[in-house]
Amino acid sequence: MKILFYDTKSYDKESFQDTLKDYQDITIEYTKSDLDPRTAALAEGFDAVCAFVSSDIGTRTMEILHEKGITLLLMRCAGFNNVDLDTAGKYGIRVMRVPGYSPEAVAEHAMALALASNRRLYKAYNKVRENDFSLSGLMGFNFYQKTAGIIGTGKIGAAMCRICRGFGMKVIAFDVYQNESLKDFVEYVSLERLLSDSDVISLHCPLMDSTYHLINIDTIRQMKDGVILVNTSRGALVKTDDLIEGIRMHKFAGVGLDVYEEETNNVFEDRSDEILEHSTTARLLSFPNVMITSHQGFFTREALGAIAATTLRNAMDYAEGKESPNDVKVG
Ligand code: NAI
Repeated sequence: MKILFYDTKSYDKESFQDTLKDYQDITIEYTKSDLDPRTAALAEGFDAVCAFVSSDIGTRTMEILHEKGITLLLMRCAGFNNVDLDTAGKYGIRVMRVPGYSPEAVAEHAMALALASNRRLYKAYNKVRENDFSLSGLMGFNFYQKTAGIIGTGKIGAAMCRICRGFGMKVIAFDVYQNESLKDFVEYVSLERLLSDSDVISLHCPLMDSTYHLINIDTIRQMKDGVILVNTSRGALVKTDDLIEGIRMHKFAGVGLDVYEEETNNVFEDRSDEILEHSTTARLLSFPNVMITSHQGFFTREALGAIAATTLRNAMDYAEGKESPNDVKVG
């Protein structure tokens, strides 16, 4: 099987080439271009394409992939909100993903963002480097005995619940399903109660119609003053303009974001003044209590190895005509 691998970074190539040793029947060609309507035609002559969260796999891309004979889309990530599943179904393109590669990688990063924004570590780091050893502007609060509110308790949310328990926090959660494995130490509550009772709120639900802009000015107003908000899930769970309004209202002690609404617009790759001027992400960065990382939650050695192993296993399942729990329902 020949796979065209889009949006290749050196670390992707390294982990996939390493895992490929176990798969004699698969060859991969790597391109730095991301998958979108302009680059989909490159897939001519391949059996499958491998793409990522940043790819634009809407209707037009799907049509071109179909024209080029592609019948398998391998997503090397958990989320697939950027994939037009109806069109995939229409053309019989099978979509497979990596549902859980290392939930701890993302949950540990969520806690790192919560801690860093609480204790202003980014500010402390810069101050000390400039020989300023004063503590002004660095005061945080103890997490011990405070309340963590976890929205979405699937694989990553559950890992975050366990980390928060380890910090001695009371853990409350909101989900449309309850996770049985957490019942000994997590109390499920309504969204309203989670918002009003939590000192740290961390988002771990997928982006869907029902969760789009879940955090908006109404839900922000329901939060405690001095709350810490962390989003490592998907940018559009948070309505950025409303978040900025909330920050201006001094609602938040800290905000930690690994994902943001403008991620796919190459805001920071194309640093033109015009783009930055209209960028809500750039506006967010102007606040001293906001810390933003560049969608790196998944980025650990263990997670990259697991992503490569599952993606190639998915390709083999396809080649052998096997069904897989990693199939995304299309059509
Ligand atoms: P999962 O599918 O195991 O868990 C998601 C949970 O959200 C489920 O328990 C589901 O019932 C719940 N949920 C669905 N609708 C909800 C709603 N309206 N309100 C509250 N909860 C709801 O997914 P997993 O693996 O835990 O991943 C969560 C999200 O993390 C992914 O959808 C993805 O967006 C994001 N992610 C971010 C990464 C990063 O590098 N920052 C890496 C991997 C995933």
